[in-house]
This record gives sequence, structure tokens and C-alpha cells, in this order.
Amino acid sequence: MSPTEYAPKRKRAAAILSLIGNTRMIPLHFEKEGITVYAKCEFLNPSGSIKDRLAKTVLVDAESRGLLQDDSIILECTSGNTGIALSMLGTAMGYRVTILMSEGASQERRMLIRQLGAELILFESEGRYQTGINMSQEMAAKDSRYFLPKQFENTLNVEDHLHTTGQEIIQQIPTAIDGFVTGYGTGGTLAGVGTAIKNHYPNARIMAMEPAEAALLAGEMPCCHCIEGVADGFIPKLLQGAPLDGGIKVSSSEAMAMTKRLQKEFGFLVGTSSGANVSAALKLAQELGPNSVVVTLLCDRAERYFSTSLFK
Ligand SMILES: Cc1ncc(COP(=O)(O)O)c(C=O)c1O
Repeated sequence: MSPTEYAPKRKRAAAILSLIGNTRMIPLHFEKEGITVYAKCEFLNPSGSIKDRLAKTVLVDAESRGLLQDDSIILECTSGNTGIALSMLGTAMGYRVTILMSEGASQERRMLIRQLGAELILFESEGRYQTGINMSQEMAAKDSRYFLPKQFENTLNVEDHLHTTGQEIIQQIPTAIDGFVTGYGTGGTLAGVGTAIKNHYPNARIMAMEPAEAALLAGEMPCCHCIEGVADGFIPKLLQGAPLDGGIKVSSSEAMAMTKRLQKEFGFLVGTSSGANVSAALKLAQELGPNSVVVTLLCDRAERYFSTSLFK
């Protein structure tokens, strides 16, 4: 839905809404390998990640259906990009935003959320995401002002990628698409874009990028990895029914090396999952043959990884 189709309650929100989505598609020519893959630049969304799309679709839908009142508080448990996106858009739309994050969340994420005018509550989790999800549900049960986007179960997450990101990709690539690969967090992107491409090109291979250390779809046990934003240690509900043809494993060190290549050779200041996605896309293109058309996504910007091993 474009801001011209939907007028937000406060006119000022139309400006930021107009910048979300319709991101550029670029070819990445890997001269050494003799391979070109195509990457959609989701880091160009205004808060710097693909999660701006989720914030837009869920908040615009909630407002248009009267689920958001003037005193509503948008509440979500998130490890980063979704929190930043909801903080950016929720406050621009005139609502209070409260983000629950584990104490392990990086300083730059915390600073961005607070700078965008949202409230941040840190919880002790020992790595368990469910702790924060339970906390948000308890808070909502006690106070009806809370509105929960519920990114892990909200089917709008998939529908939006099916109707916007997926269709944009089909429009932007003039020839048939042979393969699409991306990682999964909530699974919304992979399920939505994967379905759009499979519907249009039934022979296209739809693949999940998985950290080699946590290849759950391959039936392996999750272990720690450093590809932030993907593979939280479980297979998300939203991937059920997605037209997946398989998985491509990328190790943390491969992801890191490719991210640095994208930064130093191509000039793209992107995060680690973008490197992992491109690494998986190259593997898929190698398998599908020299002239194959393989598409992936550059999910977010590097600035939110200053304190991580990516910058060491
Ligand atoms: C940083 C980052 N955020 C989000 C996503 C996509 O997440 P989701 O599965 O929640 O749509 C990815 C996917 O690769 C990612 O790398």
C-alpha cells in the first residue's frame, strides 16, 4: 500500500512512509568467479533495513482498522532491526513505542531506538528470545493500551513480501529468475518473496540460507553463529507452507569474509547477513550454471555492527 492509497492520521508520517520499499536492484559482478548475482538493496530503506517494510505494513494496517488509538503503545520484543523500524515509524505516526531487548543487545541498537524516541526495556534472557515474548504478552494482558505487532506470527509479514518485495523483484529482473536465496529470522521474507517468485516462475529454485553452525532445516542442532538477524535457533511458524527447495549452508567465517568483500571491493556498507546471502547466491549460481539468474537481498547497513566482530 502506498501512502497515496492510505492517508496516515498524522500527515507528517507520509514523508517517512514514502521512503519505505521500492528499493533498487543491482547486479554484483564477481570477476574472479566469473559470476553475476542480483541483489535487492534493502539497506536503502530509511531506518537501514528490510524490517521497515514489516513496520509499515503492520502499523498502517492496524491504524486503518482502528486498532491503534491516540494512547496506544506499540510493544515488540526484538533483537534489533524490527525495533529500530517500529521506533522510527511508530513515533512518526504519533504513537508511543516500547521495545523489549535482551541485555546482550548491542549499544548501537539501543542508542538508535532511544534516539528515535522509543522506550527501551532490557531483560535478562541468557539467549532465550521467548523470555521477552512472554514479557510482552504479560504486559499486554495487564494494559489494553499495548498493541503487539507479533512479527513471528503475523501473517501480514508474509503477505507484504508476497505483494511488494516479491513483485518488485519480478518487475526489476527482465528475464526469468532461476533461483532466489535468503536467510530467515521470522521467515516472512523467505516465505513471501519465495512464493511470489515460485508463482511466477515455477521452475525457480527457492532456497534458504542457513548458518552452517545452525542448519535447522537440514535437521542439525542449532549452535552459536555470528550471522545476526537470522536463524534464532528455531524454525519459524511463518515458514510453514513456504515453497522451499532446500537450504544452502554458509559458515560464519564465509559470511564475514563475503561481507568484507562487499564492503572493500564493491563499496557496500552492509551487515553480515548480506554477506551470507551473497555467499549463498554465488553457491547457487555456481550450481545452476554460468548464465543463471540468481537473486538475493542485502538486508541491512553495517553501522549497527560497529561493536561486533565484523569491525574487529
Ligand atoms: C538482518 C536481517 N534482518 C531480517 C532478515 C529477514 O528476516 P525475516 O525472516 O524476519 O523476514 C534477514 C534475512 O536475511 C536479515 O539478514
